[in-house]
Amino acid sequence: MGFPTHRARRLRRSATLRRLVAESRPSVDGLVLPLFVVPGADVERPIASMPGVAQRSVDRVVEECREVADLGIPAVILFGVPEHKDAYGSEAWSDGGPVPRAVAAIKRSVPDLLVITDVCLCEYTDHGHCGVVERGVVQNDQTLELLAKEAIAHARAGADLVAPSDMMDGRVGAIRLALDAAGFSELGIMAYAAKYASAFYGPFRDAAQSTPQFGDRRGYQMDPANGREALREVRLDVEEGADIVMVKPALAYLDVIQRVRAAVDVPVAAYAVSGEYAMIRAAAAAGMLDEERAMLEAHTAIVRAGAGIVLTYFAKALARRLGR
Ligand code: PBG
Repeated sequence: MGFPTHRARRLRRSATLRRLVAESRPSVDGLVLPLFVVPGADVERPIASMPGVAQRSVDRVVEECREVADLGIPAVILFGVPEHKDAYGSEAWSDGGPVPRAVAAIKRSVPDLLVITDVCLCEYTDHGHCGVVERGVVQNDQTLELLAKEAIAHARAGADLVAPSDMMDGRVGAIRLALDAAGFSELGIMAYAAKYASAFYGPFRDAAQSTPQFGDRRGYQMDPANGREALREVRLDVEEGADIVMVKPALAYLDVIQRVRAAVDVPVAAYAVSGEYAMIRAAAAAGMLDEERAMLEAHTAIVRAGAGIVLTYFAKALARRLGR
């Protein structure tokens, strides 16, 4: 029963027909825009390796959030770049730190926009690692306590979700317990559950000034060779109380997104990271590809793989293209 009875081209004859039969329908509803918050006022500092992305002071972040909400984007995720870094990253859990201040200001001015906060120490430590370092090794269990304090500071400021991205073992459970004990049992956790040690984070480390000063993150982030292990990481996080699980990066890990989607029943997010964004921007700037089509195709693939939520630096451009 093949050709000529069956002709797959029949359903591709017009744009309207293609629209009718599309299997994946990327929408503005699942978009999350990452934002970088710095101290000061009236600061908007472009990030060279991520054209179109900037570090912003709280006032400018709020302005940006108004635009984001007007475009129909439901959420932002905040990363803080502190004034002072130290060995323990103590500005991470200060109520006066950039992230808690931004959360409070956004919730005041743009209350319907969801504010997710990245919970990690690498932006706050002088060595750039995601936890407490002793004898050159990141100490898992000591780090949990600090991450929990950071999550509580974000909760107190009014965050809608906290998103631990450090990849310490047991951090979802530790944060859940601490939030519950502090009276935040209703606050959800979006866990960076399957986070790989990736070269595609390069531009982000400029943006967050979080490049490790020695070694790398392969002792705690996942090995790109492993797909099955992602399911183990994801199940552990769900058991510990993760409300949403994330795969990161996205484009080089579509198989992982698909397997995670099939394995768990919580919402699945994917992070189209800085390097994925920079690659498309740079190739387009060099005249090597059509930026809008490449952006849409990459995004559609991530949705097709099974991500219902996509964190992407293209969120505003996608929202403009996809409409409401
Ligand atoms: C912090 C963190 C990183 C990213 C998100 N949270 C960097 C890293 O692990 O080195 C990367 C985001 C991106 O590249 O856009 N741990």
